[in-house]
Amino acid sequence: MKIFLDTADINDIKELVPTGLINGVTTNPSLILQSDRPFKTVIREICEIVPGPVSAEVTSSGYENMLAEGRELAKIAANVVVKLPLTMDGLKVCRQLAMSNISTNVTLCFSATQALLAAKAGATYVSPFIGRIDDVSVDGLGLIFDIVTIFNQYPSLSTEILAASIRHPLHVVEAAKMGVSAATLPPKIFKQLYEHPLTKSGLAQFDADWGRVIAAQNA
Ligand code: G3P
Repeated sequence: MKIFLDTADINDIKELVPTGLINGVTTNPSLILQSDRPFKTVIREICEIVPGPVSAEVTSSGYENMLAEGRELAKIAANVVVKLPLTMDGLKVCRQLAMSNISTNVTLCFSATQALLAAKAGATYVSPFIGRIDDVSVDGLGLIFDIVTIFNQYPSLSTEILAASIRHPLHVVEAAKMGVSAATLPPKIFKQLYEHPLTKSGLAQFDADWGRVIAAQNA
């Protein structure tokens, strides 16, 4: 499973890309707001750090405006993926950009029918929002299961499922069990993937015992 970071925080990206485990980055207007820096500057900088796809979301509305903005965003760097909302106009733009070989990430996906349409529109990625569905007392992972099941019926569809709105490591585990192509994680969740109390206590015990070995050798 590819792991993307869901952030526009340059410090987090600089810290975590050297792990060698990060395949890309996704951003959205809310994350750009948190970064408190100009949109295109942040995207350009992320694209220089990350050797993989970097999603930059259009903020205009209407087919013509979104198409023009998508083409502009794609010029920032070769690894920009144009993020588009799952609306009729968004999917029309997706189709146009796909025909120009510009990568797209169709976002704000909350149903299996939306995901199917994004795939038909030639999206490179479709982003179902697991956590936000859970927030309204519906099973977000159930949506992932439905989309995986549908896409598996049509091997010619090339759209990758990018599990988004991930709130805890169990979302990652369950998405991976279903074979989703990629998941985008806030930096905090990525760090949680490393953690286990038995690793921590086991390492503490090994360190203590190794100290005794060294002490015995020096005695
Ligand atoms: O980037 C889209 C998505 O991952 C948003 O997550 O936590 O704001 O629902 P969240």
